[in-house]
Amino acid sequence: MTLLTVRGLTAGYGEGEVIHDVDLAVAPGATTALLGANGAGKTTTLRAITGMIARRGTVTFDGHDLAGLTSDQVARLGIAHVPQGRGTFAQLSVQDNLLVGALSRRDRSGVATDLDRCRSLFPILATRARSAAGTLSGGEQQMLAMSRALMARPRLLVLDEPSLGLAPGITRQIFDLLPLLRVEWDTAVLVVEQNANLALALADDAVVLENGRVAMAGAAAEIAGHDDVRRAYLGT
Ligand SMILES: Nc1ncnc2c1ncn2[C@@H]1O[C@H](COP(=O)(O)OP(=O)(O)OP(=O)(O)O)[C@@H](O)[C@H]1O
Ligand SMILES: [Mg+2]
Repeated sequence: MTLLTVRGLTAGYGEGEVIHDVDLAVAPGATTALLGANGAGKTTTLRAITGMIARRGTVTFDGHDLAGLTSDQVARLGIAHVPQGRGTFAQLSVQDNLLVGALSRRDRSGVATDLDRCRSLFPILATRARSAAGTLSGGEQQMLAMSRALMARPRLLVLDEPSLGLAPGITRQIFDLLPLLRVEWDTAVLVVEQNANLALALADDAVVLENGRVAMAGAAAEIAGHDDVRRAYLGT
């Protein structure tokens, strides 16, 4: 059983194709890591899946064919995309950023409970609730961006390089959260990450892209065990 199934995904910008014939899957509640060198096409793959750019191929989520859906419609089906560079609303308060994440929800008591849950995951979101999001540090903004995505109660969280530019301790704090998402939020994760060792240690499955094509895919533990693969594609 899979929650997200991607088959033959091909996409790019204008005339130029960047990713070719990409297959990947995420099981319910599981984590799939999408790995590869700079420019391999990881961000483009995520954008094509969530409907931000045109694509060929099929994307099926929770029984729905996502063909022709806008990124807003994809979000409403339960996929929350945290883009590379985070995408918080800098001028809005931390609190309002979190509430924006819950705008499509009607269950007010559930929203209140989830606000509390985000604040217990990341206490800084409570202590800085009234500060403008733009005044948070990079790591704090990443915590806010992930929490805002969670406030929509997604079935799938799509994270594009959550550790980019962050100190190792903060990266650890953010990655330690991923197993909790399965247990406490019933959320699956598709994560792009430059730190392959970190991602492979946490993910169930991994897909390695090279020049826009899948070079290798399988159980994360298996890929982590192939020293030659790690050296060739992941530089570790
Ligand atoms: N908006 C765009 N317009 C044109 N080309 C783009 C655009 N965004 C990305 N590209 C190109 O597509 C290719 C893949 O880029 P992409 O951002 O998907 O790679 P990536 O694997 O996410 O890299 P990184 O690890 O550096 O984030 C690159 O050659 C890049 O220059
Ligand atoms: Mg990228």
